Amino acid sequence: MQKITMHTSKTYDILIEDGLLASAAELIAEILPPPRKCCLVCDKTVYSLYGKPDLPLFASLVGAGYETNICTFDPGEGSKTPHAAEEICGIMAAKGFTRDDFIIALGGGVSGDLAGFAASVYMRGIPFVQIPTSLLAMADSSVGGKTGVNTDAGKNMIGTFWQPSLVLIDPATLDTLEHDELLNGLAEIIKAGFVADGTIFDCIGEDISEAIVKAIKVKKAIVEADERESGSRRLLNFGHTIGHAIEKYSGYTVPHGFAVMNGMYLTALAADDLEWSLTPVSGLIRDVIDAFAYPKYGDYKAAQLAEAAAGDKKRVSDNIVIVYPDQPGRCKTKELPVSELEDFIARGVRLWK
Ligand SMILES: NC(=O)c1ccc[n+]([C@@H]2O[C@H](COP(=O)([O-])OP(=O)(O)OC[C@H]3O[C@@H](n4cnc5c(N)ncnc54)[C@H](O)[C@@H]3O)[C@@H](O)[C@H]2O)c1
Repeated sequence: MQKITMHTSKTYDILIEDGLLASAAELIAEILPPPRKCCLVCDKTVYSLYGKPDLPLFASLVGAGYETNICTFDPGEGSKTPHAAEEICGIMAAKGFTRDDFIIALGGGVSGDLAGFAASVYMRGIPFVQIPTSLLAMADSSVGGKTGVNTDAGKNMIGTFWQPSLVLIDPATLDTLEHDELLNGLAEIIKAGFVADGTIFDCIGEDISEAIVKAIKVKKAIVEADERESGSRRLLNFGHTIGHAIEKYSGYTVPHGFAVMNGMYLTALAADDLEWSLTPVSGLIRDVIDAFAYPKYGDYKAAQLAEAAAGDKKRVSDNIVIVYPDQPGRCKTKELPVSELEDFIARGVRLWK
């Protein structure tokens, strides 16, 4: 079993091993000893695959002495709402949950963000355990303590920093994940490679568990240095400013990871052209896009993407923080006046071949 310990406002372990789901209750019992109540939060797809009462996770939780409740929601980003968080809190209140009780977020990033948010606000905060089952959630969203829900004003507009008490990763659950969802999560692993560890590319396609471990280690180092994203944590947003704009511009029909791949490439093209980068990286990103056949999305209108990106949470007054690749395996940040963002994006769009 691989173990990574996060040292943030809360210290917690991330455990990674094929088949870990079957021993989840034992591992949880070491940090949150029974008897206690727990609320297993998952979408309906993940519920039928891994959460049902006749499956090992639920049965082992009950066997270990946890009063186990279930809260399910429809799969997809549309369920990550303040109302859904209120429903989870309502179920826990009706069952008499106190601050000694806890939530288990089982599933993808939607489940983790939603359940983590509910955990952070119920009675001003109760513990939660992350059991990610999508590649994106394993390699990225289950670690680092960002929780949140979407509102009409945008994605993750309401959220908290609330670290989990434990993260249990069973890569064997990826066997049931659809190919597009694997590609979606792979984009965040590729991003980690470009941000801080080029050796990630050696294990992608060879050993997915090792690639997950390496991506988590990149995130660990950055989050431990800047838990609340006032500086270096922004490096993890490489590709996300333009990526979020592509998602928004497409009416959220483009998957997050696909948009981030496009965002990384457009940013690198513009940064190389402006000679910001010590060593041009756009060619390498293009090789990865081609190797995994990530689609190019639409004929980008730089003006519309710039407008969508200008509302990004990474905006600092009249400037926007651009994360760009300085050389393979290293990114840097630069503040760009919002008034120059359209030109920057247009440069990348023009150079995309
Ligand atoms: N908190 C963070 O730091 C952070 C970082 C990145 C992304 N996010 C958030 O993560 C979310 C996206 O996460 P996601 O891509 O995992 O989406 P998701 O949770 O919707 O999962 C994607 C799909 O995969 C299915 N699924 C999950 N595990 C499965 C399995 N093992 N087998 C079969 N199907 C499975 C789900 O039912 C869903 O349909 C977004 O809301 C994004 O904002 C958060």
